[in-house]
Amino acid sequence: MIQTQSFSVNQPTKILFGVNAVNQLSDTIAELNGHRVFLVADPGLKQSGIIKKVADILDLAKIPHTVYDKVTPEPGLKLADQAVKLAKKNKSDCVVGLGGGSALDIAKAVSILLTNSGKAEDYLGLGKIKLQGVPKIMIPTTAGTGAEVTFTAVFINEKTNSKGGMNGDPLYPDAAILDPALTLSLPPHVTAATGIDAFTHALEAFVSTQAHVISDMYALEAISLISNNLGVAYANGSNLEARSAMLMGSLLGGKALATAGVGLVHAMAYPLGGMFNTAHGLANAVLLPYVVEYNIIGNTEKFATVAQIMGYETEGLPLREAAQLAVEAIHQLNADVGIPSSLADLNIPADRIAEMARIALTVTRPVENNPRKPTEEDVISVYEAAFNGAF
Ligand SMILES: NC(=O)c1ccc[n+]([C@@H]2O[C@H](COP(=O)([O-])OP(=O)(O)OC[C@H]3O[C@@H](n4cnc5c(N)ncnc54)[C@H](O)[C@@H]3O)[C@@H](O)[C@H]2O)c1
Ligand SMILES: [Fe+2]
Repeated sequence: MIQTQSFSVNQPTKILFGVNAVNQLSDTIAELNGHRVFLVADPGLKQSGIIKKVADILDLAKIPHTVYDKVTPEPGLKLADQAVKLAKKNKSDCVVGLGGGSALDIAKAVSILLTNSGKAEDYLGLGKIKLQGVPKIMIPTTAGTGAEVTFTAVFINEKTNSKGGMNGDPLYPDAAILDPALTLSLPPHVTAATGIDAFTHALEAFVSTQAHVISDMYALEAISLISNNLGVAYANGSNLEARSAMLMGSLLGGKALATAGVGLVHAMAYPLGGMFNTAHGLANAVLLPYVVEYNIIGNTEKFATVAQIMGYETEGLPLREAAQLAVEAIHQLNADVGIPSSLADLNIPADRIAEMARIALTVTRPVENNPRKPTEEDVISVYEAAFNGAF
């Protein structure tokens, strides 16, 4: 397809990928001129021994560090402010984020709040961050958010019970270290939900109104890697090849989302996180097939391509039928990895759907990127279909 659209692409994050890549952390810190490290992680990573592994690497290189391991899933703005306070007290000049998107997002916020004044809340929105942060290095331990290469950090605003992001170039990490061995300890249900989140980034970027040749390249490869490997990683978590493919898929999904944006699935998942604390990946996963069904007419050709990449025979079929197979493929992928098939299964109350729909439509950029422009009635209908599990 010839592109008539103009676009700009910013890819500033250095990527180190491979089994044992984490051993390159000390050299990477030195390259970035970091001296006193603030290591951000969560309690789950302490239990799995991952924090100790990374702290040992820093000890070996005699790099002073403070460990902040209090990150909770779907973190709030207050947590970011608390972490910054400690980082300032310890005169940290380099931040390492270790964990899933929750830890990485706190780490990204700490980096920029060490140089920009004020509180985390002041930087919600697009383009509000004026100064570069201190050097930041991200080490993802879920194959999910792609936050190691995005310019976003997402938080729950405790005042409004809504989810929102800080967005801006200073949030791009300086380096991302992706070591598939660090994802071997992910339990199956987290593998599933985070894996479908990564798939959703790729899919929503692929059909986004902002998509272009470069974002499509990332998205298509991510869709292929994730759809071929998520089942294996879920069924046998110690399969390093599948774990590597998933981590590469989530990295490319992150690149796709950073270049073309996400869409209605993410906009509709945000109220579930803000109002009911539903895990981000799980909320996306349950909504995904219903939103795709709704979106099909917005870009039939691309959804047919998705079905084909996911292994469905589309040759000779009318385009609309081929595209419909994408819904079937996604439904099957979800079922294979134990994702519940309805919002009712997540105990989301039906009588809050109208409120959720109003909030979802305020998540402006993903709504604008969506291949079909949704009305409030449309969003209510999609939530209702997802609530009833109506395929
Ligand atoms: N910044 C971005 O670009 C971006 C993109 C998408 C989502 N997000 C945000 O990221 C957050 C979700 O991140 P997530 O889905 O990665 O989940 P998470 O970071 O909340 O982690 C989920 C759970 O997995 C555990 N865990 C992580 N790695 C593990 C490992 N290797 N072994 C054992 N347990 C492990 C954690 O302890 C935690 O309990 C949400 O707040 C979401 O909004 C950010
Ligand atoms: Fe996401």
